Amino acid sequence: MPEQASIHIDDKKVLDCPVVVGTEGDKAIDIAKLRGTTGYITLDPGFGNTGSCKSAITFLDGDKGILRYRGIPIEQLAEKSTFIETSSLLIYGKLPTQKELDNFSSAFNEHSMIHEDMKNFFDAFPSTAHPMAILSAMICSMSAYYPDMIKENPSKEDIDRIAVQLLSKVRTICAFSYKKSIGEPFVYPRHDLMYVPNFLNMMFSSSNRPYKLVDEAVEALKVLLILHADHEQNCSTSTVRLVGSSHANLYASISAGICALWGPLHGGANQAVIEMLEEIKANGGDVSQYVQKAKDKQSGFRLMGFGHRVYKNFDPRAKIIKQKADELLRKMGINDPLLDIAKRLEDAALKDEYFVARKLYPNVDFYSGIILRAIGIPLKMFPVMFAIGRMPGWIAHWKEMIEDPTTKIGRPFQVYVGSPARDYVAIDKRT
Ligand code: CMC
Repeated sequence: MPEQASIHIDDKKVLDCPVVVGTEGDKAIDIAKLRGTTGYITLDPGFGNTGSCKSAITFLDGDKGILRYRGIPIEQLAEKSTFIETSSLLIYGKLPTQKELDNFSSAFNEHSMIHEDMKNFFDAFPSTAHPMAILSAMICSMSAYYPDMIKENPSKEDIDRIAVQLLSKVRTICAFSYKKSIGEPFVYPRHDLMYVPNFLNMMFSSSNRPYKLVDEAVEALKVLLILHADHEQNCSTSTVRLVGSSHANLYASISAGICALWGPLHGGANQAVIEMLEEIKANGGDVSQYVQKAKDKQSGFRLMGFGHRVYKNFDPRAKIIKQKADELLRKMGINDPLLDIAKRLEDAALKDEYFVARKLYPNVDFYSGIILRAIGIPLKMFPVMFAIGRMPGWIAHWKEMIEDPTTKIGRPFQVYVGSPARDYVAIDKRT
């Protein structure tokens, strides 16, 4: 007999609800009939208890610190896979054969350039513009420059083409926006370079200064992108799904996701962590002062890069990133005082009763900035690097949602707490 839940109101049973069980034993009470049958809705601010969909893309167990893409542990992907292969895995549901991977990779080259007219866009932004503002605008504008790609009912082939186009062009857009911000001419993508080296070359080389690729930096950035590639129904991915559920095109949906990612509680945290560490350094390096401040609710300050809605144990991504940051700095011979401050801050917080009781651990953003700094990525570009990494996840979720015939437009309810009905009063009669 399948498990069932019952809803009682004032001791009266009003509804039997089926229990949905996931592959890994996670359980959900299906309340789809609740409002229609009883008139009640559920109230769950921040969706802390709400499943918005069934998904076969990513499994995450926050208590055990497990994260798997399409069943494969991220530890294995970080060690053995490439960003392009992991993207293919997320989007198409299985590891590609050599032929599939070759086709996928060559499509990246085919789509790496951006429309020449789009380059004028960069001139319209002030040089101080945050690159996330440029990125979200550029991705949304792609729907204007590639209108043949957006159709009411896109075929599988259409979706495949947009997916690879987005994955490939996003790195060109990001590198161009950086070049614009430093007043240097754009460096075009090269067909002979893999995904990560190609990006680094567009960012850091110029006609009179070829960029020397450092293997360790390429490897660290590849790992970072793989670890950011998906994280099930987080704020930006839920945004992509919600916007896409109205049948908005993939570019528009992902542009909205980029805006959601920008916030410091989400993907903007990697920038906020480094700003916090810089501030601690400038104020003498006393980490205990900042741990105290984070505990004081009146201060409005939080330890950036700490805590997570789902992980109540170590974020498995943070473990790998911390180790990679250590390795990279050692191999490149860099002595970054911020790494030492980050480690001391982590030690102090993990020993503190406030953080222990609330199960607050370092998250993916705590050490990722140390790696990005070592590679030479400017601070304002940090959330952009998160966006490049998250692109395959957003695409995979949009595709899964659009291909599921049971998908409905996302439209939550509310409990209205405003004024009761009242009449309009003419302006000369208002007090
Ligand atoms: N510093 C101090 N206190 C914290 C922190 C923190 N970083 N995070 C949570 N808390 C406290 C919070 O004040 C609350 O305390 P109390 O129970 O006494 O009211 C308790 O811990 C639970 O916090 P919450 O805000 O209810 O948790 P949430 O699940 O709504 O928020 C979070 C998750 C990530 C937004 C939050 O932990 C946070 O603001 N962290 C700092 C920003 C950050 O690092 N974001 C990156 C997240 S990982 C990357 C990604 O987005 O995917």
